[in-house]
Amino acid sequence: MTTMDDLISRNFGTADGELLIGGLSISSVAAQFGTPLFVYDAEVMDRKLQQLRATLPPRFEISYSVKANPNKAVLRYFLARDCGLEIASAGEYQQALAAGCPAHRIIFAGPGKTESELELVLAKGIGEIHVESAVEVERIIRISSRLGIRAKVALRINPTGEVQGGAMRMGGRAAPFGVDEEMSDAVIDRILSSPALTFTGIHLFTGTQILDHAILLNQYHKGIALARSIAERVHRPLETVDFGGGLGIPYFNNERELSLDDLRQGLLELMDTIRPDPYLTETRFMLEPGRFLVGEAGVFVARVNDVKISRGKTFVVLDGGMNCHLAASGNLGQTIKRNYPIALLNRMQTAATATVDVVGPLCTPLDTLGRSVELPQPEIGDLIGVFQSGAYGLTASPVNFLSHPSPAEVLISQGAAQLIRARGAYSDLS
Ligand SMILES: Cc1ncc(COP(=O)(O)O)c(C=O)c1O
Repeated sequence: MTTMDDLISRNFGTADGELLIGGLSISSVAAQFGTPLFVYDAEVMDRKLQQLRATLPPRFEISYSVKANPNKAVLRYFLARDCGLEIASAGEYQQALAAGCPAHRIIFAGPGKTESELELVLAKGIGEIHVESAVEVERIIRISSRLGIRAKVALRINPTGEVQGGAMRMGGRAAPFGVDEEMSDAVIDRILSSPALTFTGIHLFTGTQILDHAILLNQYHKGIALARSIAERVHRPLETVDFGGGLGIPYFNNERELSLDDLRQGLLELMDTIRPDPYLTETRFMLEPGRFLVGEAGVFVARVNDVKISRGKTFVVLDGGMNCHLAASGNLGQTIKRNYPIALLNRMQTAATATVDVVGPLCTPLDTLGRSVELPQPEIGDLIGVFQSGAYGLTASPVNFLSHPSPAEVLISQGAAQLIRARGAYSDLS
């Protein structure tokens, strides 16, 4: 059971009734940078990375998944701690390079990579491309041949049904991601037949927001089984096996944290099973998590702009809503709309006496961040926080809808707050 108290004691703190992030009072941060804004605590990212590293056997490498939060300051944070990056577009590639990532530490997954995106990464350098279709293989062969280079490619495999899991499933059934397991032999043979390609290994990623270690371990077992059978069939060891991301964090009251102890134990057992396998002794195992590393570090902070009562129901109207944070409104893949953890940040110790709906400034009922939330009676000027907001926040939101300014982003590290993305206005060219 995740409660606000758990979250606060695990990641933040309070003083004089106010939330502290990275030791700074939220009202001082909001006064300095304005609202709405996303605030990230670097120490929480650090702790999550250390927890994950302590869970994984030493031969696992971590590539932070840029889509979870592509701010360069966030990328630099993980790069400085020896992570690679996983990208899914030319934009993320440029962002990774601009953050100082060496090209060979970037892996490129995602369906629908265009000719120009492939040309860009192949010309400038890339660690590995995770191919998602037979068409993409032909594109990479054409471009690499033209450039006179040999491209490293791994095959993203959409496994058979037994490894389904997660809040948003991306594999284990009909999906646009990867090549179906049943069709993978032919694609691998084509890769192996081309002098323009080096076949490095396989990639599996079947779902995000997984809180059950058994589902993750099931996927890892499947990945190893596939890697083994492919290596045996093609008579060569695999250089890489990428097990994807998908490690979850608890958002809702009924959710528990992923058990890292159980995950660690299961991974150690899995490693024991592969020890005698000559095809996998040198294989680099990879994970590409996003949410797990940054999700808990971020709080979305907005100011109360109005408090209204309509037919007996209280609506607390903020200066930013789903335009800033689509996921918290439940419109990014949540079938049953449930509230993210929400608190009144400048009166953390005051008893909850009001039951309110927390809404944004958009003219749509979809713009609701919290339904029937219990809070101290909110007043105009109060600060409301949505926790677990470091991943799939700003860049997963329709920030231009209704042309409100986009939220700022602030990173707090070692007691200092740094603006890492300025508030932006909608602009066009006409
Ligand atoms: C290919 C790929 N890798 C990694 C991730 C990161 O997933 P998560 O944030 O659940 O770890 C995603 C998310 O959709 C993805 O599509």
